Amino acid sequence: MNQLRSAKWFAGQDVPGFVHRSAMRASGFSRMAFEGRPIVGICNSWSEVVNCNMHFRGLADSVRRGVLAAGGFPLEFPTISLGEQLMKPTTMLFRNLMAMDVEESIRAYPFDAVVLLGGCDKTVPAQLMGAASADVPAIVLTGGPAAPAVFDGKQMGVGTDLWQYIDDVRAGRMSMADYERLEAAAGPSRGHCPEMGTASTMATIVEGLGMTLPGAAAVPAMDSRRLQVAEEVGARAVGLAAEGVRPSHVLTAEAFDNAITLMLAVGGSTNAIVHLLAIAGRAGVPLTLDRFHELSARTPLMVNVRPAGEHLVEQVFHAGGIPAVMKSIETLLHTDALTVSGKTVADNLPSGISTAADVIATIDAPFQPTQGLAVVRGNLAPTGAVIKCSAATPALLVHQGPAVVFDDMRDMMARFDDPDLDVTADSVLVLRSAGPRGAPGMPEWGQLPIPSKLLRQGVTDMVRISDARMSGTAYGTCVLHVSPESAAGGPLGLVRDGDIIALNAHAGTLDLLVPDDELATRQAPPPRHRQRRGYAAMYVDRVLQADRGCDFDFLVGRSDQPENEPDAIFDGWVGGW
Ligand code: FES
Repeated sequence: MNQLRSAKWFAGQDVPGFVHRSAMRASGFSRMAFEGRPIVGICNSWSEVVNCNMHFRGLADSVRRGVLAAGGFPLEFPTISLGEQLMKPTTMLFRNLMAMDVEESIRAYPFDAVVLLGGCDKTVPAQLMGAASADVPAIVLTGGPAAPAVFDGKQMGVGTDLWQYIDDVRAGRMSMADYERLEAAAGPSRGHCPEMGTASTMATIVEGLGMTLPGAAAVPAMDSRRLQVAEEVGARAVGLAAEGVRPSHVLTAEAFDNAITLMLAVGGSTNAIVHLLAIAGRAGVPLTLDRFHELSARTPLMVNVRPAGEHLVEQVFHAGGIPAVMKSIETLLHTDALTVSGKTVADNLPSGISTAADVIATIDAPFQPTQGLAVVRGNLAPTGAVIKCSAATPALLVHQGPAVVFDDMRDMMARFDDPDLDVTADSVLVLRSAGPRGAPGMPEWGQLPIPSKLLRQGVTDMVRISDARMSGTAYGTCVLHVSPESAAGGPLGLVRDGDIIALNAHAGTLDLLVPDDELATRQAPPPRHRQRRGYAAMYVDRVLQADRGCDFDFLVGRSDQPENEPDAIFDGWVGGW
């Protein structure tokens, strides 16, 4: 067996060894229970303010049974948790904080391996970032998709359909009484959003990266098989500790290629781009936006799931789950990549393809062609922006129109429904001050609302451009993550009403058709928000732009590099007593 990390805490007969063992015994754990056994931390993002993760206490109990059955000793610990729907101003502001919490908790305590229990959007990337930096053996268990809501006999996703109903209310097609009935029906169970929003995309990506057991991502939250998978994950964590397989062995350039390819094949959330860039940064893998564009050029849409298709993740599970999707794109994957199962991707793949062809396609008959995602650059986005072509209106992917500019979210909320707003279906809606620094935290404001007067005319989509992100459940011709953002001096700050903007997603271009000498005379509006204290002040000061994953500049790079290693004083130090 691999030398146990926990032996540093518990094996010595010196004062630190005495203090550490005594602390465990004070918790009621006998020496027989923990000494000489792999200690498995269960990093639990359960919280009563994170509805999507509310079932994690039960899930942790199942993990615990698996750990004990395999001869390990489980110790559950909490971290900050991030609930997409209740947390303000945006969970993205706190993703890096949670990642730091996870990293330091893993590093500081006597864990030989950890099981990361994540579900709601930012909890999974934060845990992966922290685990990559701590580089202690780790395996992820996501919470699974929630049961689908049913409203007036129609099965619905939480986000995708909701956006349509909200447009119906604004256009006068839905009554407020029906809207309230919808509110009660929208979330019928625990679990993450049941369509291929950000949470399901990240769960899928975890499987693509090889950081969970094959098949674990899509098991519904309320299905008893999720509890069975949790036991298996707990048992496997003991194996990882014994074998010494660490995240740095799994999170390779090939694993990131696999994850991106899988993300594209399922029509996943654009948020995952930012998260993958950040995780790769922690793992020391030189991933750039260009790699997403390259892989998009060869990867078709293979799964018929909302928001790009019709079904929910539950149907993907019944069609064979993520292993069946990976089988369908086997020729596009690095099948020799190692996974935390201890086996390669090839070993984990099923022998045959899915028989549910209306849910998971075959590679020669995909649901949509390649290029579901495009990276665009130009004088409006010098270091890049992204557009999810598979969720856009094809005719708008090449478009030229006059800008209607909103200086920030408040400006947009005040004016977008103004009957006097000078806007037509050809206009290009622009929102700035919505990036990592400007908002701050880069909220999901990128699906700018279509002005009601256009909705009433039957307009369903417009070109929208911002330095914000967009919900993974959203759709529309939305150019997102414009970098550098306006608050970092990006040219988005120089756009004025009426300027012509040219988008060509196929050619990968986004340009402001204003002469350079004219732009040189313009000044961006001053930032309206100032962060003077606490975490938000540090965030604004140290956050990287979206094209680099919005991590903090001081957290990028592998922690085992000499310049990043923790001070040796951490070893053997006894805390207060
Ligand atoms: Fe938590 Fe969608 S809001 S997963």
